[in-house]
Amino acid sequence: MTSLNSPTVARVPIPANGVDYRGKIVLAPMVRSGELPSRLLALKYGADLVWGPETIDKSMIGASRRVNPRNGTIEFTRLPSNGGRSGPAVQESIIYRLDPEREKGKLIFQMGTASPELAVQAAKMVAGDVAGIDVNSGCPKPFSTSGGMGAALLRTPDKLVAILEALVKEVGTPFQIGISVKIRLLETPEMTEALVSRLVATGITGLTIHCRTTPMRPRERAIREQLRMIASVCRQAGVACVMNGDVASRDQGLQLMGEYGVDGAMIATAAESNSSCFRSDAQGGLLPWRDVVREYIDLCIQSENRLSNTKYLLNMLIPGKSKDFLQVKSSKCYTDICTVLGLDHLIPAATRVDEILNLAGKSVLHNETRPQAVQNAMQGNNESARVAGGEAQRVKPTSPPPTSGGPIRTKSIPTPSKPVESLPVETVSNAELTA
Ligand SMILES: Cc1cc2nc3c(=O)[nH]c(=O)nc-3n(C[C@H](O)[C@H](O)[C@H](O)COP(=O)(O)O)c2cc1C
Repeated sequence: MTSLNSPTVARVPIPANGVDYRGKIVLAPMVRSGELPSRLLALKYGADLVWGPETIDKSMIGASRRVNPRNGTIEFTRLPSNGGRSGPAVQESIIYRLDPEREKGKLIFQMGTASPELAVQAAKMVAGDVAGIDVNSGCPKPFSTSGGMGAALLRTPDKLVAILEALVKEVGTPFQIGISVKIRLLETPEMTEALVSRLVATGITGLTIHCRTTPMRPRERAIREQLRMIASVCRQAGVACVMNGDVASRDQGLQLMGEYGVDGAMIATAAESNSSCFRSDAQGGLLPWRDVVREYIDLCIQSENRLSNTKYLLNMLIPGKSKDFLQVKSSKCYTDICTVLGLDHLIPAATRVDEILNLAGKSVLHNETRPQAVQNAMQGNNESARVAGGEAQRVKPTSPPPTSGGPIRTKSIPTPSKPVESLPVETVSNAELTA
């Protein structure tokens, strides 16, 4: 913090549709674990900002943007290439999904890229819908580095600088959002300092430092010795510095921010296992896993999240020793998951989303296991619930087919400078990797 006697410190101005990372405890970008329901869950528990999972530039370019008429989410979709083969019609994949209401002013889109031109093209697709664009310069997986992306960019600083400068000029300025970068530590403090000094001069508004070097495994303890130096380089350039690595909770993040002089703290794995880590101790701190799982499933159903992705995170949220763990793991539809976990109040919505996601009729539960809610509905005339029970042949719903999604607006890239709020408004992660 600047004292009265210290010289005035410059600050890179925060663009009108952007966000200042100072004082924030944020959800880290996480492929698979950072899809829309997880982000909404983190926000519900108090995350100040959320980063989306790394999305590769090429997979965004050419995607279509549409509004899902059932839940108002914005979906970026594309057809799989199908390898040039002709065959049965293929379903389009959702590359990225966001909630324009609940994530408004809080979502940072993270991109995997190795090219200024592609980065700009991809960023323009989503710039009108998010508060910032972040470049992943820390992913150590060969999938990313072999294409020159992720941690490979730490070895090609000229390219990284060119990408950030292009994004600032061609996306950040016209769309009035912030551009940021997430990096790892280099081998020596001198090397890290030289890199950070270059990056903060590109016009970015924020820099996240993952306090591990590229070869370090996620289980190795984060190194904090270089943090003060990095924070100081950022501060002199007026760029917000966010720390990442082994931050377990909001309160610990705030304490570390004070201790190391950084502006914000980012949480990944602790949020993956229990997002209520964003609640302060004063708010009651960590909640029991059942409470978190109930909220999470509700959000997955609302978001029409891909079942495999929902189950992926449930595997982290539900303790392995719990009797429910294996049953949830073998569930084939939302109705079964709600049944196993005793979430009867969610069953009608689960049944509807099973139909939308073509999961109706996939129940693996036996009749006697079904809750009264499903059985009642099956005895009555509720076709949806009967289908959820797994017995009925699917009957075409009378309402418009739910699988159709919203109108695809191919010419939908928002115009620069348009305020985010004026825009109307699963995900197949294109980068199944971990940074
Ligand atoms: C499942 C998973 C997926 C991740 N995906 C990304 C990603 O897409 N982009 C990225 O920059 N980092 C990614 N990371 C790294 C995290 O953002 C974070 O830097 C790392 O886990 C260290 O934070 P932690 O100590 O709080 O876990 C991922 C981590 C995990 C566990």
